[in-house]
Amino acid sequence: MRIKFGDLEIGDIAKDRIKKALDKNWVTEGANAREFEEKIAKQFGYKHAIATSSGTDACIASLASLYKFGAKRGDDVIVPATTFCATANAVLAAGFIPKFVDIEIETLNINPNKIEDEITDKTIAIMPVHLMGKPAEMDTILKIAKKHNLKVIEDCCEAHGAKYKDKYVGTIGDMGAFSFYVAHVVICGEGGVVVTNDDDIADVVRSVKTHGRPTGSIYFDFQRFGLNLRMNDLTAAIGIEGMVHFEETFNKRKDNMNVLLERTKDLEEYVYFSKEEDYETISPHAFPMVLKDSRYNYSKFYKYLESKDIQCKTLFACLPTQHKAFEFLGYKYGDFPNAEYIGENGLHFGIHQYLKKEDLTYISDVLNIYFKKCEITL
Ligand SMILES: Cc1ncc(COP(=O)(O)O)c(C=O)c1O
Repeated sequence: MRIKFGDLEIGDIAKDRIKKALDKNWVTEGANAREFEEKIAKQFGYKHAIATSSGTDACIASLASLYKFGAKRGDDVIVPATTFCATANAVLAAGFIPKFVDIEIETLNINPNKIEDEITDKTIAIMPVHLMGKPAEMDTILKIAKKHNLKVIEDCCEAHGAKYKDKYVGTIGDMGAFSFYVAHVVICGEGGVVVTNDDDIADVVRSVKTHGRPTGSIYFDFQRFGLNLRMNDLTAAIGIEGMVHFEETFNKRKDNMNVLLERTKDLEEYVYFSKEEDYETISPHAFPMVLKDSRYNYSKFYKYLESKDIQCKTLFACLPTQHKAFEFLGYKYGDFPNAEYIGENGLHFGIHQYLKKEDLTYISDVLNIYFKKCEITL
């Protein structure tokens, strides 16, 4: 595969730290995880960064902390219909019900104007997702949350270093969950972090991620629902290296994104691209494209890119109506027209930091040729 979705080259910083951990026979959560947390907190100005074993687990730990603030089992959490399955699965795993809301095609994010229709007495939180690194419309979301006394958990798994109105995502709401899965801007392999500026939330999340033990307590004192969601010191070592190179990686990926946008700007008549507004910084997670007209033949487009050695992924498809896993919640096709449209007409591919100038030229040439051909055949 010429253009992989993401890539990882493990360098000396990580290798040294892995070796030190191995020399100490320490492979569970320890000094590396603590340092990774400190680096995240310092880089983005969060009061607390709490390491977990994955982004999914960061979502679960955030959600399960809500019991401390009055949530009951079976309560509802508002989530967007288009997102990676882990957002909704985490809601279920924490004991709540995901209430899906349609998204906006242009932003790929939850449509804030549709959230209030789904709020009931059982709603306890809104969980916006900053999909493809583009911040959700947080001002409106926070206003709704305040009016209905709801917590806001940001799913920032794809949004490392994204900013909304001069604030890094993650603590615009009450807390945020990050993933450091391979192919993300910062990588652990498997890893996550919950961030918050609230001491009480931080305390509960730390407890939830270690079987519900209160922080600093004796071994078998279980005060609340919890799981083993801890990070291990080997993956933390890789994350530390990722944070050391954060600015460099972020800027390189952002340059890649901008070069591609520039070289494909004539395709705007065919495709919705990610559009950065003045008040935001999009994190260069990947390069999403949504066909503006289904006549441009999505499956042909997808196959064409793959045949040209560009590794593609769909844009997740609508979780409640286009994935069997969520069928039991009772939604039907047609409930989420935008999410479903994106499910049938959207894809994304990687813009990782190891791509070279000639790779970007190659990708944009492939894209331009496809749409030129479309024009001729329509
Ligand atoms: C939006 C979103 N939420 C949650 C996750 C889960 O993260 P992980 O794969 O680290 O469990 C991901 C994974 O990439 C994601 O994209």
